[in-house]
Amino acid sequence: MTAFRTTIDHRAVLARYGAEVPRYTSYPTAPHFSQGVGRASWAELCRGLGPAEPVSVYLHIPFCDRLCWFCGCHTKQTRRYDPVEAYVGSLVQEIAAFRRRLGFPPRLGALHLGGGSPSFVRADDVKRLSEALHAAFDFAADAEISVEIDPSDVTDETLAGLRALEVTRVSIGVQDFDPAVQTAINRPQSFEQTRDVIAKLRASGLVSINIDVLYGLPLQTPERLDATVDKVVALRPERVALFGYAHVPHVKKHQTMIREEDLPGPEARLADAARASEAFRGAGYEAIGIDHFALHGDRLAKAARAGTLRRNFQGYTADPCDTLIGFGASAISSFAGGYVQNTVPTGLYQGRVAAGEPAAERGYRLTPDDVVRAHMIERLMCDFALDLDALSARFGSAAEPYVREALRLAASDPDGLVKVDGRRFAIRPAARSLARTVASWFDAHLQSGAARYSKAV
Ligand SMILES: C[S@@+](CC[C@H](N)C(=O)[O-])C[C@H]1O[C@@H](n2cnc3c(N)ncnc32)[C@H](O)[C@@H]1O
Ligand code: SF4
Repeated sequence: MTAFRTTIDHRAVLARYGAEVPRYTSYPTAPHFSQGVGRASWAELCRGLGPAEPVSVYLHIPFCDRLCWFCGCHTKQTRRYDPVEAYVGSLVQEIAAFRRRLGFPPRLGALHLGGGSPSFVRADDVKRLSEALHAAFDFAADAEISVEIDPSDVTDETLAGLRALEVTRVSIGVQDFDPAVQTAINRPQSFEQTRDVIAKLRASGLVSINIDVLYGLPLQTPERLDATVDKVVALRPERVALFGYAHVPHVKKHQTMIREEDLPGPEARLADAARASEAFRGAGYEAIGIDHFALHGDRLAKAARAGTLRRNFQGYTADPCDTLIGFGASAISSFAGGYVQNTVPTGLYQGRVAAGEPAAERGYRLTPDDVVRAHMIERLMCDFALDLDALSARFGSAAEPYVREALRLAASDPDGLVKVDGRRFAIRPAARSLARTVASWFDAHLQSGAARYSKAV
């Protein structure tokens, strides 16, 4: 039995299990997808859909009018608008082809536009997308429609587009308000500009706003991050996402523009994350999962309290849909039986769609073992705990080896990260920032791939 601890030696834990672990927005994670699972699997997985089952839809917009040096998203900078207009045409075609192949309009429970910067898409193109989606899907009356926006794009026309789409939530990138940090990441964005955009969004009737903040950025001192957090709190968004900057210049070449010597070290990152988290909680936000905060009345906070929080490729969500259909270059679809990702290069994606072919390129078919592990990892990332009785109720006798595995891991946990109370395997409050590490104990694929992941904290 491990002695009770209120503090955790993070350095020892990261040395033991490795500092780089997946963010677990899926299990297995995208680096384990293979070319062998592509178009045929996509068509077969789609056949499992029924008209009554609500699905979640994701549209990827891989364009921005500027490129931030820190960005890890699949996007590219374009100064001209015509490539965006042509890409919207491809999305419209892909959505219509999906509807034709399926033979019925599935119920749409949630829609998310991400990128890149969907706010770069002009109102008439947003209208085209909206019409294509409404022709292909049966929108639920309470469908949540969310869009990621870059405040520097937002004009009255953008607001008209958001209204046409009947958007219910927007997610705004802030990262850090300090000018020195902004110069180091090539993202000038004043507090006043952000405040005015939020005021306009609120005036246009938007019910919920999320702000993204990053720690671990170049030249980001504790004082600069604290000042950013204070300003974000003053804007009173319903949600905040506090992400650790993932520096992966081997994957994202433009991140080489960031000087490694300007980056805070692991201890500073840890302290920054803890302080920012404390400040958001002190300002009345409830901590959600590993990196989100929400006001008490927000859907995400309600889902977290009810134990119904989910985690998908967009991160934490209150959306209960089991199926996610992704449209656009690099978009991932998620089905009960597996994952399928569209081809990543934008030109190739558009070529496939123009030729009338599915854009699916690679994926993964879940084995029965994966299904149980995916569920366990999702619950650990959402609830910081596994209800072992609920696991048995869900998977029957097939759950037994996993229950034994959880109990064995808890008994051999030298750092006191977890505890078992009756039939509850729980991550200790002091170890919550290491939830990804604990989740990785249940990852049967982690040792098998050459994948590289971001820092655990
Ligand atoms: C698609 S962007 C947000 C929308 C819009 N393009 C913007 O920048 O305002 C999604 C979010 O991902 C996060 N992000 C991007 N690159 C990241 C990285 N390398 N590490 C951690 N988070 C990152 C940022 O917080 C960013 O706001
Ligand atoms: S952070 Fe947003 S605006 Fe900046 S490059 Fe990435 S997607 Fe584009």
